[in-house]
Amino acid sequence: MTTSLRPRRRAPWLGPCLLFGLSALQAQAAGTVPPLVPLPAHYQADPGAGFVLGDAARAGGSDDAGRRAAARFVDLLRQNGGPAVAVADSTGAAQIRFRLDPSATRPAEGYRLKVSDTGIDISAGDDVGLFYGAVTAAQLLTGDTPGQAAAATIDDAPRFPWRGFMLDSARHFQSMEEIKKLLDAMAQHKLNTFHWHLTDDQGWRMEIKRYPELTAVGSCRVPLGDAGRDPASGEPRRYCGYYTQEQIRDVIAYAADRHIQVIPEIDVPGHATAAIAAYPELGVTDQPLVIDNQWGVFQNLFNTEESTFQFLENVLEEVIQMFPARYVHVGGDEAVKDQWIASARVQQRMRELGAKDEMEMQSHIIKRLETFLERHDRRLIGWDEILEGGLPPEATVMSWRGTEGGLKAASEGHDVVMTPVTHMYMDYLQTDSPDEPPGRPTTITLQKAYEFEPVPDELAADKRAHILGLQANMFNEHTRNDRNLEHNLFPRLAAVAETGWSPRAQRDFAGFLQRLPRQLQRYQAMGIAYARTPFQVDLRDKGEHRTGQVRVDLVNPLGYPVHYTLDGSAVDAGSPRYVQPLQLEVPVRIQAAAFFQGRPLAAPRTFTLDAGSLLARDDTQLGLCPGDPKLLLRLEDDGPADGERAIFNVNIFSPCWLWSDVDLTGIGGIAVRAGRIPYNFQLANDEPSRTFAPARTAHGELEVLADCKGTPLVSLPLPASPDADGFVLLEAPIPASAARADLCIRFTGDTRPDLWTLDWVKLTPRD
Ligand code: ACM
Repeated sequence: MTTSLRPRRRAPWLGPCLLFGLSALQAQAAGTVPPLVPLPAHYQADPGAGFVLGDAARAGGSDDAGRRAAARFVDLLRQNGGPAVAVADSTGAAQIRFRLDPSATRPAEGYRLKVSDTGIDISAGDDVGLFYGAVTAAQLLTGDTPGQAAAATIDDAPRFPWRGFMLDSARHFQSMEEIKKLLDAMAQHKLNTFHWHLTDDQGWRMEIKRYPELTAVGSCRVPLGDAGRDPASGEPRRYCGYYTQEQIRDVIAYAADRHIQVIPEIDVPGHATAAIAAYPELGVTDQPLVIDNQWGVFQNLFNTEESTFQFLENVLEEVIQMFPARYVHVGGDEAVKDQWIASARVQQRMRELGAKDEMEMQSHIIKRLETFLERHDRRLIGWDEILEGGLPPEATVMSWRGTEGGLKAASEGHDVVMTPVTHMYMDYLQTDSPDEPPGRPTTITLQKAYEFEPVPDELAADKRAHILGLQANMFNEHTRNDRNLEHNLFPRLAAVAETGWSPRAQRDFAGFLQRLPRQLQRYQAMGIAYARTPFQVDLRDKGEHRTGQVRVDLVNPLGYPVHYTLDGSAVDAGSPRYVQPLQLEVPVRIQAAAFFQGRPLAAPRTFTLDAGSLLARDDTQLGLCPGDPKLLLRLEDDGPADGERAIFNVNIFSPCWLWSDVDLTGIGGIAVRAGRIPYNFQLANDEPSRTFAPARTAHGELEVLADCKGTPLVSLPLPASPDADGFVLLEAPIPASAARADLCIRFTGDTRPDLWTLDWVKLTPRD
């Protein structure tokens, strides 16, 4: 077939000579780099009109590896929303041509891609390089002008060999389809390591044939509250799920097809409740355990008997038969040692084994497993706690409590994967929007995730190669469904991928934001429920209820331009652009959206401000009370079992909300809508941080304090239970005052196993 050539759109201010020979960063700054995520190491614009994908275009390979890559390219292009392209038998009849070039000296995983008028040529030294070339080609053809690619030469290879994503399938379980969808998305971002967190306190999710109870018992729990009751019969309703060995092999093969290694995690010696519930002889105490429906840090540890070590080795033996990856993750995190300290038998074993303290005891187990894995030609990796008590040099450390553990480990000569909770935890929410799903409301914004640098400046130059790369972790206590999971992962996983792949000097958040909107369209084509919140507009208002005057900020969390209307009519790119706070008078209806290249990035939001809204706040608009210890969570109700649930921002250490700087003049009363949710947290050593103000009546009180101290303005006894819908409306008069005050609104008493939470608060004017 013939390819019809059409001139490509080009930035009008740049003459052709300026376009050529730019590095990826320069090209990005000049706006000429196509919307590739991650950004390639070297992008050079070439002379020529570029390539246009015709209706009869074909992809082909000049060898087996090339043909495999051509087939992958066809899938990738379709996933990205591109047209169907057939696979040709050879490169002769193809326009997208893949060729193995073993003679080329390229860095690992690298490839060269050349777009010319006649097509796209990709060459690499191996399958993986050709695959990444296919990923880039598919993105080029789903760029700003779909089906067209500008003439260019790309020489590309990753910065780090470990570009990871960890998925917790223990707290909540994902279908095979969802796992494969995530693997597809990983491949589209050139992520190459899937760390699968398969065992924890709340579930054992991997079939081990020698120990069938691990899944027969260990894969089920009864969730707390309504979610754990059949709505029709009232009988317990279990939450169950595990992957058979056949399914696990299927996942591994699917991942391998996309050049992703799958690293299993078996968490030892803590996070072990599900295993101990299945086989009580593995535990330290004689207490029978059930699989808990609580979150947090549990006390339960594996015991230190030889038979338990053998159990772990037997499990690992089946694990390494399933998982071909070089690494096996053995956890090691958050193993509070109280049970070992309290157990005479464990103390005796420590003496027998020569462990001088519990850290050394843990280290003994890790070393034993490490020796076992080495014997089977595998390498041990674990969370940074495995450094405590000593670690064999071959072990690799995953640094999650910050980067310090990774810095120490790399300085000592261990390989390290950086995955600090401060930047790489995808259960931390990404904006302050009320539309965020449940999770941890400390935000890790897209920018924060993007700006994480895995190689600490303090690390000596000769130790830097020990930093294998970085990884995003998705722990799933609060992420019950695929929609929320995908919301949390995307687009932040794109930011993590770029840090893992692109040279440090090329990374540039502003450039990333220019390339991102096209990536969102690819997500849409893949059916990925990426977060809309970073692309919406949030409204912050500060109003005076006595005058009806309100100052309004309209903010897009990523800084994309915001346009708005003030009469509630539809907003478009021609509507006024927001540049500074608006002084408005209520009532007013604002519609606002963020725009990129004339198109809204997400559905517009409409805000109605009236006299009532100036006197109302919901939980997401309130702060935390001063002085309290804090563990802020965004939690959902326990029911209904399926479907939408109410969500609350609550400090589980102290249920108290702060409304700052309230003008109480003319206020006669307060109304609080309160919800009640299960309190299901094990806090281990943090337990003493919980500080509930003492209750004065049987079920505690709703209290409102001016400036968060002194005699409460309001102290209203709480009912024994909420109404049938899980909420209760609490109303009380407020004494006359002409003051401004910071209002602290709290629930007193220790109401476990439930927790009262604030849904909204409204002040009512005095008649
Ligand atoms: C972890 O977050 N406990 C690794």
